[in-house]
Formats: sequence, C-alpha cells, structure tokens
Amino acid sequence: MELLRVQTIAHESKDTTIPAMFVRSETEQPGTTTVKGVKLEVPIIDFSNPNEEKVQNEIMEASQKWGMFQIVNHEIPNDVIKKLQSELPQEEKEIYAKPVGSESIEGYGTNLQKEVNGKKGWVDHLFHIIWPLSSINYRVWPKNPPSYREVNEEYGKYLRGVADTLFKSMSIGLGLEEHELKEAAGGDDMIYRLKINYYPPCPCPDLVLGVPAHTDMSYLTILVPNEVQGLQASRDGQWYDVKYVPNALVIHIGDQIEILSNGNYKAVLHRTTVNKDETRMSWPVFIEPKEDHEVGPHPKLINQDNPPKYKTKKYKDYAYCKLNKIPQ
Ligand code: SIN
Ligand code: FE2
Repeated sequence: MELLRVQTIAHESKDTTIPAMFVRSETEQPGTTTVKGVKLEVPIIDFSNPNEEKVQNEIMEASQKWGMFQIVNHEIPNDVIKKLQSELPQEEKEIYAKPVGSESIEGYGTNLQKEVNGKKGWVDHLFHIIWPLSSINYRVWPKNPPSYREVNEEYGKYLRGVADTLFKSMSIGLGLEEHELKEAAGGDDMIYRLKINYYPPCPCPDLVLGVPAHTDMSYLTILVPNEVQGLQASRDGQWYDVKYVPNALVIHIGDQIEILSNGNYKAVLHRTTVNKDETRMSWPVFIEPKEDHEVGPHPKLINQDNPPKYKTKKYKDYAYCKLNKIPQ
C-alpha cells in the first residue's frame, strides 16, 4: 500500500473538494459546533516567580477548574522555542516514516487506521522520546537540520525544569509534600514524548478536524503551537477556540494526573481545527509513566470519606483500553 500523507492530499485538493473520509458528521463539524466570536481565555499564569504561593494557588485552581492553562514568563528562552519550531523538510520526515501497519508509536506517520466513526484527522505527525536518555532512540530523530538533536536536547532540559515546578505546585495543591506527586508518578523515570503535529492548509476547514475530541493519556502535556489558530477546548458542553498567546506554553492536565489526584484535577477535553491557507503546527510533549508503572489514586488522598474513584493499573493496560475503546 502506498503511503498517503495528508500533506500530499492537501496539495492535490487545492481549492477543490476533499476525500469523504475527512468530512466530519454534523455533530463534529467545527464550522457549526464552535462558539463564534469568542476566544476562550483559559488561565494565563505568570511564571516569573513560580514558587510563590499565589502562583501555586493559580496552578491548583486552573488544574481543578479548567484542566488547561497557559504559562508566560517561563524559563524557556524564546530562541530555544523558535529553534524547536524550525520546520523539517518533507523529505526528511519520510526517512523516518513508520512502515504501514507498524505498531510502533515512534517515527513519522499518518493515522492510517481510521477512527471508530471511519473518519480521519487532517494531520500528519512525528513522534519521538526526548527523555530519559535510556529510552531515547536517536535513530528516529531527524538528522536534518543538523542542529535538530542539540535543539531538542536543550528544549528537553528546560522542559523538565518547568514540569518539576508544575508537579511541585500540584502536589502542594493536593495537601501532599512537594515531592510526593512526582515521586508517585515515577520520578525521573517518567517518559517525555515529543509529537510534532503538522496540519496542512485545507480547502474546507469548517468540515474537518485536525485531531478529534480527546483527553490526553499523559500525566501532563506541555505544548507550543505556531501562531495559526487551531486549539479548541470544551467548556460547559460547548467548543471554543483557545486564545493563542505568543511565547506561552500550553499545559494540559492528562488522564493520569486526574487518576493520581483521585479526580481533584481534571483532564481537559480538547480538539484541533485547521486553516484554509496556512499550515498549523504544534509541538506537544507528553509526560507519561513508564509502561509498567502502576497508576492509581495517591494512597494519601484516599480514606473512608474519599474512596478511590479510579482503578489502579499499569499504564500500558490503561493505554490499551483507551486506544481500543474498552471501558477502564
Ligand atoms: C493534540 O491535542 O493532540 C494537539 C493539540 C494541538 O495541536 O494544539
Ligand atoms: Fe491532546
């Protein structure tokens, strides 16, 4: 079977129509299901002094009430983010293409398998682990531009600092010692998995989705988008565009933090739309447990009045159920 990239389809469908497998049902089409004229102002948290109690409280509240927030004045220099965002040439991505039918998550690909409703997202992606060193497979890292490895390693180093701060604040927000949440999450063994989402321009942006509605499976996701609007979050059953804030990091609370906090923190339901003329890209890093790590409500948060709301299970079993739509 020939490898079919959304990017190739996008080229071929300039100003015309698109294959039916991309056209969403009416209940999903962003053109009719997005609240127009409003940008959702998810909390924007100033990270100049992230250890201040005020900031820790903001993180706690945003994690409880939104499951999503943006942080500004963080410690990652803008030029490090700019370098991360320098686009890979298409030929370079193809070198790392996953073979059709491959079970491997790593490498460049298009979700060839359709979703349950038979639809496909208007997006191609590249996945690779950036931390810990023992889990990195440098063979799936692009070799061009030659600075790719250095840039990603540098970004990863800064990102771990931000993640540590978030874990600390979220731990305190649950009434735990500052180190306890990260420790229960797997400490320095947690996996940092980078995804590069590539959403080509689409002649019918009102009819398609980049990524359909989902919550992230990770503990946390830390994401930088380019400036093209596309991220949407669900709020009170309605879909809203999330305001793009230059140089901000977008934080998603994922399923594993919801579980670990016994529902105190909420994973955010989100999706992405695409643009008629411009390519949207985003660089989420999923911070995940190792596959054999068991995740369940933190023992210190459980008592007679607060029974566990989630099962404790290995992350790989959680992932298997979620990907195969089996109830957890
Ligand atoms: C995703 O949630 O998978 C992608 C988010 C984005 O592109 O902003
Ligand atoms: Fe996501």
